[in-house]
Amino acid sequence: MAKFLVQKSGPLNGEVVISGAKNAVLPLMAATILSEEECVISDVPQLKDVDVMKEILLSIGGKIKSAEEGVLSIDMGNIEKWEADYDLVSRMRASFLVMGSLLGRCGRAKVYMPGGCTIGARPIDLHLKGFEALGAEIIVKDNFIEAIAPEGGLRGESIYLDFPSVGATENIMAAAVLAEGTTYIENAAEEPEIVDLANFLNKMGARIKGAGTDTIKIEGVERVHGASHTVIPDRIEAGTYMLAAAITRGTLLIKNMVPDHVKPITAKLRESGVTVELADEGLYVDASGDRKLVAADIKTLPYPGFPTDIQSPFMSFLTTVEGSSTVIETVFENRLMHVAELNRMGANIMTEGNKAIVQGCKHLEGAQVIATDLRAGAALVLAGLVASGTTEISEIYHIERGYEKFTEKFRAIGANIMRVEE
Ligand code: EPZ
Repeated sequence: MAKFLVQKSGPLNGEVVISGAKNAVLPLMAATILSEEECVISDVPQLKDVDVMKEILLSIGGKIKSAEEGVLSIDMGNIEKWEADYDLVSRMRASFLVMGSLLGRCGRAKVYMPGGCTIGARPIDLHLKGFEALGAEIIVKDNFIEAIAPEGGLRGESIYLDFPSVGATENIMAAAVLAEGTTYIENAAEEPEIVDLANFLNKMGARIKGAGTDTIKIEGVERVHGASHTVIPDRIEAGTYMLAAAITRGTLLIKNMVPDHVKPITAKLRESGVTVELADEGLYVDASGDRKLVAADIKTLPYPGFPTDIQSPFMSFLTTVEGSSTVIETVFENRLMHVAELNRMGANIMTEGNKAIVQGCKHLEGAQVIATDLRAGAALVLAGLVASGTTEISEIYHIERGYEKFTEKFRAIGANIMRVEE
């Protein structure tokens, strides 16, 4: 297994260009199933998760060409089966996002039950509640979930989500596109990735309004055609580099990003004393000089609240500032496992339930630590950049799933990070 060796690195300085969003491109690729015509998606990041989604589309009969780096031409004209196999779904739980499009296009979908992961049980009850509301029969058997549309196809309905689930909103929106009549998703997720998906579907001929608010209206249409679309920049990658500048007391120009998508991160960094300014191509983050950086409390919430995916990178930063910070994780039930790893590096963090109390200004020391999820892995790299000695991070496949050219981008701004095979 590969691991990262991270050495104490001076302030990171320079420019970093943000890639297309992992959490936008996966639902966009799944949505191409709805069309019999070719779709072209640009700014596709080179990620292992994208490779798995490609394999799923190919496995059900899709044809995929890539004329140039970052551009995928996806032709789902000839779907041979409506089943996503175990070995693919078990490698990436986001594979479940094909269910809504398959059900909408073929009237049937059979997907292996996506497992939980280290951050939580990751149930799919809200996805299934939505499919059933649209008239589908749900059969759970041998760890497979099958959804079967009624004769005449799915019918539009009003659906209330008990929690503004990103995946459930995306899956139900996709299933509703070709349904008979109008669907309302209430208490919908409002993430930018939902808006990106709705924009793509509307380019394909869907009739969706309200994406980005808590109520999304989908008027069913007969069919949708092909379309071209560019993936929005990855706001979580952008936030990770904002924190990299902050924790190393550096200055970074973060390009090809949408400042509006990272407002909570900007607000909290400013509260800590970091300068964050709009630049003509993104954001300029400056934590340099002998400025005093102070504690800030964060509480993760669905968008537009503070993003759960930036909770762990922000916590790494909080271990280095003056004062005590409170970090509350409200989105996932088990997303504080990086606390134990940071404490092994000399941090002083106490947890009680979903709350962590971070005593700042600790001198971190390099240690052998484990990436427990994609973002916790990035958080440990950030901590390693300021810890004395060498930090050895294992289970880095998590990180490489979701950050394009991770070591290249970090080394280009002065990080001392090396990928080695164990
Ligand atoms: C998406 O996951 C992202 N993944 C996650 O990013 C992100 O952390 C999460 O949204 C929240 O923003 C992708 O987009 C591929 P949810 P998703 O459904 O859709 C509960 C990363 O690091 N829930 O909004 O799975 C669930 O248990 C990853 O890039 C139900 O109870 O998130 C969780 O507590 C990690 N029933 C909460 O909702 C359901 O049917 C949020 O989950 C669905 C969800």
